[in-house]
Amino acid sequence: MNDAPAICYGHAVRDLWPLDPAINYLNHGGYGVTPREVLTEQTRWRDRIERNPTGFMVEVYPGAIRAAAAALASFIGADADGVVFAGNATEACNAVLRSLDFAPGNEILTTDVAYGAITKAIRYAASRCGAALAAATIPLPLATADDALAAIAAKLSARTRLVVIDHIVSLTGCRLPVERIATLAHAAGARVLVDGAHAPGQIALDMATIGADWYVGNCHKWLFAPRACGFLWGAPDARDIHPPVISHGYGSGMVKEFDWTGTRDPSAFLSVPAAIAFHRRIGGTGLMARNAALALEAASMLAARWGTDLAGPRDMFAAMVAVALPERFKDAVRLRNALAQAHGIETVVQAHGDRLWLRVAAQAYNELGDYEGLAAAVDMVSLD
Ligand SMILES: Cc1ncc(COP(=O)(O)O)c(C=O)c1O
Repeated sequence: MNDAPAICYGHAVRDLWPLDPAINYLNHGGYGVTPREVLTEQTRWRDRIERNPTGFMVEVYPGAIRAAAAALASFIGADADGVVFAGNATEACNAVLRSLDFAPGNEILTTDVAYGAITKAIRYAASRCGAALAAATIPLPLATADDALAAIAAKLSARTRLVVIDHIVSLTGCRLPVERIATLAHAAGARVLVDGAHAPGQIALDMATIGADWYVGNCHKWLFAPRACGFLWGAPDARDIHPPVISHGYGSGMVKEFDWTGTRDPSAFLSVPAAIAFHRRIGGTGLMARNAALALEAASMLAARWGTDLAGPRDMFAAMVAVALPERFKDAVRLRNALAQAHGIETVVQAHGDRLWLRVAAQAYNELGDYEGLAAAVDMVSLD
C-alpha cells in the first residue's frame, strides 16, 4: 500500500510560486518561474556570501559549486566532472561553438525550427572560419519522428562537422529523436551538440543514453532553479571546451575554466540542489507526466475548438504543445499583446511559414480552466 499523501496541483499550489494571481500564466517555458522556497535558498546563499565575501569565494565556493554540479550531474545521468554551469543555454551553446575549429567548406547543420539566438551563434561561429550553416526543413505540422530524422539525414554530408539539434523545439514543443539523430550524425563523421534548453525537469534525462558529444540545458526553466542558471555537459572525449569568457582557469581543464569566469553572483548555481529537491517533492517523474497530460489535453481542446492542428504527433510532446491559430490571425505580436494586456494571459505566439502558432505550457500551478480562459479570450480578440 502506498501511504504517500497525494500531491495537489493546480491553483491550490500556485502560492508556492510568487506569481501574480491576476495573471493566467501559461508560459512556464519562456523564462521559468522560481518557487518561493528556492528563492529563499538563493537568499540564504547571498547572505552567506555577504557575511564574508573573501572567505566565501576562497574557501567555500570551490567546493560548493562542485557539490551543486554533482547534484545536477546525478539528476541528468552524467558524471560530475563533465558538468559545468553557465549563465544560460545561449552562453553554453556559444562556448561549444566558439571552442571548435571549422574550416572553409565545413558545414554546421541545424534545423529551420532551431531557436533563433542559437542559429545566429552558429552563423557567427561558421562565418569566422569560412564555414557555412545548413538547415534541415522540419515539416510543420510534423507527422512522425521519422520525418524529422529523414529531414536531417537528407542534409548530412561529408561537409557536416557538427549537428546542433534541439531536444525540445521551442516553436512547437516537440521532442526530437536526439538519440537517433546522434547515431546518424556520428555515422556520418559529425559531432553532436544537443540544445536541451527546455529539457531538464520537463522530461527525464540520461546523458549516456542520448549519446551526444555535448548537451546544453537550463535549470531555470523546468527545474525550478533561480534565473540565469544553465549548464554544459561534455562527453569524456569532448571536454576541450572553453567558456566564452577566459579567466584564471584557462589551460586547467573545462571544470576549472567554467567554475571561475570572473567575479559574479553564483547563488543561482548553488541553489540547484534545492531546486532538484523541490522538483522531486512536487512529484518528480509524476509531475512531468501530469504536466505533459495537461498540456496535451489543453492543446487538443484548443485545436478542436479552432479546427486546426497540433504542431506534431501526440506522442512527441511533453509539457509544451503548439497549436495552429485560426487563419484570421496574422500578427503574432499583436495577438500576444492583446491576450496579455486585455486578458492577463501570458502565452507564446509565433509565426512560422504562413501560420501563427500558439504554444501552451503546463506547470504544477496550472489547471484545465486556465486554457478554457485562454480559448474564451482568443474568441474575444478583435482584429480591428
Ligand atoms: C531551444 C532553445 N535554445 C536556447 C534557448 C535560450 O535559452 P536562454 O535564453 O536561457 O539562454 C531557448 C529559450 O527558450 C530555447 O528554447
